[in-house]
Amino acid sequence: MTLRAVVKGVGHYLPERVVPNSEFEATLATSDEWIRTRSGIERRHFAAEGETTSDMAHKAAVKALEHAGLSVDDIDAIILATSTPDLTFPSVATMVQGKLGMNHGFAFDVQAVCAGFVFALTTANAMILSGQAQRILVIGAETFSRIMDWSDRSTCVLFGDGAGALVLAAEEGTGKVSDRGVLSSDLNSDGRYREMLYVDGGVSTTGESGKLRMQGNQLFRQAVEKLASTAETALAKIGLSGQDVDWIVPHQANLRIIAATAARMDVPMERVVVTLQDHGNTSAASIPLALSVGHQRGQIKTGDLLVVEAIGGGLAWGSAVLRW
Ligand code: ACO
Repeated sequence: MTLRAVVKGVGHYLPERVVPNSEFEATLATSDEWIRTRSGIERRHFAAEGETTSDMAHKAAVKALEHAGLSVDDIDAIILATSTPDLTFPSVATMVQGKLGMNHGFAFDVQAVCAGFVFALTTANAMILSGQAQRILVIGAETFSRIMDWSDRSTCVLFGDGAGALVLAAEEGTGKVSDRGVLSSDLNSDGRYREMLYVDGGVSTTGESGKLRMQGNQLFRQAVEKLASTAETALAKIGLSGQDVDWIVPHQANLRIIAATAARMDVPMERVVVTLQDHGNTSAASIPLALSVGHQRGQIKTGDLLVVEAIGGGLAWGSAVLRW
């Protein structure tokens, strides 16, 4: 028998305020048409004043627990991916732990920007397989609206806020790829690319949280190449290829990146979960949001083989293969 970390529940939360592309036309030299055709984004949600990353993460976690039919008493740990924490410390994960009324176990944040959820999922899987924990809440949550430079049309129209959560639990499998659960993963980073995507502030530099800066077109080229290669590497580790995949659930940054990556993997767009038209790029929240919405839409079903893949600041990128 082989231990597996299996998805038992999924949930998400999106803030109430929906901002259509047209809203940016009033303040920036941009258009709904440019944003739609260059990125695929049509609208995004922005957190309300006073609404924080931990508030959204908490709401997504409650939904995932409900879906799993479990309570906080059943959970051993919370691993939360974010680059937009409420405070420098404590971690958002411990804030969510407090909001859930969970007075046991452990909680910590993972920071790998847009790839954060893949890193958190891989960490949670490793902890379950090593016996460190039996059931883990894995959350991605972001308020990127708080690190936007609203005068920079090349970035501020692309991002949104939200949160998604999974409950992962230990279950005995057969060791074959027909098992449910996380089957493989592939993580990478390369600090030489730091200038491509970063925030121009921080605790030990400016003392302020800073604003996002991105060399979009250079990142675009890196993204297509690295996303296809990490996904193929994770699949090859277990003897599979794009043809075996029921759903690619990609980081939702740009529809052209998503389509080019799927084409490289020989996976038709009918087998790709796309939510960025409604959410924009929600960084570490984008994959768990897409998993939750894809499940709600009836696209992702029990037994389906999924590849999740993401790239973000660092650069950091990676993928995981899981059977839902
Ligand atoms: N409205 C109108 N024009 C615009 C806008 C806008 N909102 N933004 C940029 N432009 C202009 C530029 O100024 C440029 O004008 P110029 O030719 O006169 O200089 C022109 O449009 C083309 O700009 P590019 O940057 O070359 O446009 P591109 O086709 O590359 O699209 C985009 C830009 C959407 C940012 C794309 O490059 C992209 O999605 N890049 C990848 C982003 C990504 O993957 N991020 C991943 C991780 S995010 C994270 O980790 C936080």
